Amino acid sequence: MKFFSPFKQTWSAWWRRSKLFRYLSLFGAFAAAALLIILPALSQPVTLRILMLAPDVASFKDTLVKEFEQQNPGIRVEILEGPNAANAVEDLYSSAFLLGNSPYDLINMDVVWTPKFAAAGWLMDLTGQVPQQELTGFSQNDLESGRYQDKLYRLPTRSDAGVLYYRKDLLEAAGLEPPKTFEDIVTISKTLQDKNAARWGYVWQGRQYEGLATVFVEALKGFGGYWVNPDTLEVGLDKPEAIRAAEFLRSTITEGISPPGVTTYIEEDTRRIFQAGEAVFLRNWPYVWPLANADDSPLKGKVGIMPMVPAVGRTDGGSCLGGWGLGIAKTTRHPKEALQAIRFMTSQEPQKRFITEAGFVPSRRSLFTDPDVTAKYSHYPQLLEISDNAVLRPSIAQYAQASDILQRYLSAALTNQRSPEQAMQAAAQETRRLLEAGKAAKRA
Ligand code: GLC
Repeated sequence: MKFFSPFKQTWSAWWRRSKLFRYLSLFGAFAAAALLIILPALSQPVTLRILMLAPDVASFKDTLVKEFEQQNPGIRVEILEGPNAANAVEDLYSSAFLLGNSPYDLINMDVVWTPKFAAAGWLMDLTGQVPQQELTGFSQNDLESGRYQDKLYRLPTRSDAGVLYYRKDLLEAAGLEPPKTFEDIVTISKTLQDKNAARWGYVWQGRQYEGLATVFVEALKGFGGYWVNPDTLEVGLDKPEAIRAAEFLRSTITEGISPPGVTTYIEEDTRRIFQAGEAVFLRNWPYVWPLANADDSPLKGKVGIMPMVPAVGRTDGGSCLGGWGLGIAKTTRHPKEALQAIRFMTSQEPQKRFITEAGFVPSRRSLFTDPDVTAKYSHYPQLLEISDNAVLRPSIAQYAQASDILQRYLSAALTNQRSPEQAMQAAAQETRRLLEAGKAAKRA
């Protein structure tokens, strides 16, 4: 301490003698304190927040986020784990944006959200922000579903298409061919249930939520019907084909092919039942494949996968197009870093590792036939065909409300509160009113 005493004396002398010295000392002390506070804040990494469907979190974190953070040490991606149902995640995003204090920078968007989110002004316009050559590799449907009124708002991270899984082992043992029609699903199910080969015939997602809309789109396509024509806004829910589609779904429950609980199931509930060996058929998405064939799965090597079949007499069944992509919240304080993140996460190589890890349907076409990918998933070339022919849900700004109407009435029909005919008529009328109100609002 002795060492400092001459300095201390000189400093005290100056402090007493000079006003200027006193001002300069105080200024110096303030500046040093400010630097101590500001500098660490400046070197803090930028954090990008995103909310995701719970079952998607692990693979997203282990591949895309991990690699992005390794290559961009100044940026962190914080994933908030959302619920399991797509529409519940949408509700959370929507309320955050409506309340105006959204904590999200990135938005993990289902294939049907873009029109609503863009029309509401919640998304950053990405048109011209991503070089054309980065966009050319995407499947057309996946990319187009990220546009609204000619502007681009979302880049696809993965596609999806509804598929039919069947117990190859049980069908082969009984000398049965895979089904070609809905009616075949029923007959094969009954045959195998009668032999006690499986407790249930067919499991599918019947809870009142977005997944039910996707199941219905497939049944509709199988009977040759439609929901809403996005160009004319014509509603087809009370047409005979749509009523038949609703009747078919209900009949699987009344005939004992599907468990009564099907009206409460979402994707993971049905996967667990199928994977436990309790059902012959499962309607679900391709993410099930690696799980059903995992080393600890009783079904390893016993499962077949195929496109969704149509009703008897028709040849054009259809899988529903699903899929997820990334948009940027208009309110983000980090638009530059957010764009960097979504360009990285949707680019070829990270995408390859992501979809190979999770068994998701690629949104980049070349990955369906990439030798590294097909070495693990030999069914991917077939998935490309399924996804090319997949049926889209109506691309309209009021999609969430239209889907909610359909889910409510369909659920009423499935749980015997209304006949399928009454339910579909009411759903059609309410959907027409919704779309008319939308048109009137546009005119005003
Ligand atoms: C899957 C699909 C998505 C769909 C959802 C319904 O996550 O990718 O498009 O809306 O299932 O449950």
